Parts: sequence; structure tokens; C-alpha cells
Amino acid sequence: MTIHIGAQPGQIAETVLLPGDPYRAKWAAETFLDNPQLVNEVRGMFGFTGTWKGHPVTVQGSGMGMPSLSIYVNELIRDYGAKTLIRIGSCGAMQEKVKIRDVILAMTASALSTPSRGIFKELNFAPSADWSLLRAAAQAAETKQVKTHVGGIYSADVFYDERPDLNEQMTRHGILGVEMEAAELYNLALRYGVRALAVLTVSDHLITHEALPPEDRERSFGDMVEIALEAAFS
Ligand code: ADE
Repeated sequence: MTIHIGAQPGQIAETVLLPGDPYRAKWAAETFLDNPQLVNEVRGMFGFTGTWKGHPVTVQGSGMGMPSLSIYVNELIRDYGAKTLIRIGSCGAMQEKVKIRDVILAMTASALSTPSRGIFKELNFAPSADWSLLRAAAQAAETKQVKTHVGGIYSADVFYDERPDLNEQMTRHGILGVEMEAAELYNLALRYGVRALAVLTVSDHLITHEALPPEDRERSFGDMVEIALEAAFS
């Protein structure tokens, strides 16, 4: 057990999917895993472990924002031995060509700041995904015929952003979408020599102001979970 995860040693799989929302962790585990068992409920941040096609998998909520994700990912890697960590989450689109329900595979994650800033100091470190996972996820998405974009994303510190000028610069520089966790996931994975990727479903659009209708959420998020699972074990 760690401060924030109540699982016993051995109850967390080497492959961990990380939705921000603990209820999405419950839904993903109950929908896609065989024999899902609740292994963590500290602070209501559910974690479930089961199997997918015979492979052990944990789905653990990470909370919203990089400080929260940093707590769970540090403990998953350093205390439980997680080796493959895939964020499954939603994002806002920052390009016209990216549409609601599309999937984004985050090759890199830009940020104004991350919890690792104290280590990097003046260095603008470029957090990047694991290539083997990224390639496998792109192949899985193609096979499933899910419309997918691969490129840079922006991990923001605030949801209610008071800096439209910054968003404009992100769009201008080809950033595909905005979320709030991937950059620190990539920092930690690179630091500890494990694999990480963010697979994101577009839930809202910063240019057109469209949003994913609630009734479409499950099907769209399901594609993302399947892409993540295929990538982890390919
Ligand atoms: N996650 C989903 N949509 C988002 C947005 N517009 N900004 C930040 N994070 C998000």
C-alpha cells in the first residue's frame, strides 16, 4: 500500500490505463476487462485490475491535472512496478481538421509548466511518447478505422483558460488538442524508463465550440480504450 493507493503488492498489473475520472476507470474495467476486481478506492479514486485477452491490466483513475496524475503515476511506477502507462482521456480540439469524436495520439506534450519544472529549471524539456506504443496505437486505430491524428498536444494547467492568445499560438504551431495530464505522464515515464502514451478522444472544440453529445460518449470513449489495449499488447 502507498499513501494514495490501497492495493496490496501484486494487485497492480504492469500495464495500467489511466483515465482522469475514477468513474470512467470503473466503466472501462467493467466493460473491457474479464474479472475486474476493485484494488483501490482511497479518496474514491478507483483502481480495478482484471485481464484483457488473458493479459493482466489495471485501470486506475489519475484525477484532473498534472499534480494529481503525478501522485498516482509516481506510486504506480516506483512502488508497484508499472511498466506501460497509457492515459485514456478527453481533450479539446485546437485545429479545424480535428473533429469531435476523433482520436488524438499525443506524440509530444507541450506545457507552460509541469510538476517536473523544478528538475528541469531553465531547460524546455520536450516530453514525448514511447515510440513502440505510439506506432502500435496508430496501427490499431487504422485497423479499427477510427479517425485518428498523431502529433503534438498541449497539457494546460487550467481548464478555464484566461489566455486566448496562447491558445492561438498553439493552433498556429500545429498543436492538435488540449488536455491537462499527458506532459507529466511522459516526464515521469522517461525519468523511470517505462513506456507511456496518451490516447485522447476529442470531446469539445476550441475553434468551432462544438461538444460531444452525452449520449455518444460511451461509444467514442470505447474506441479509445480498445486502441490503448491493442497498443499495450501488440
Ligand atoms: N479536456 C477536455 N477538454 C478540455 C479542454 N477544452 N481544456 C482542457 N482540458 C480538456
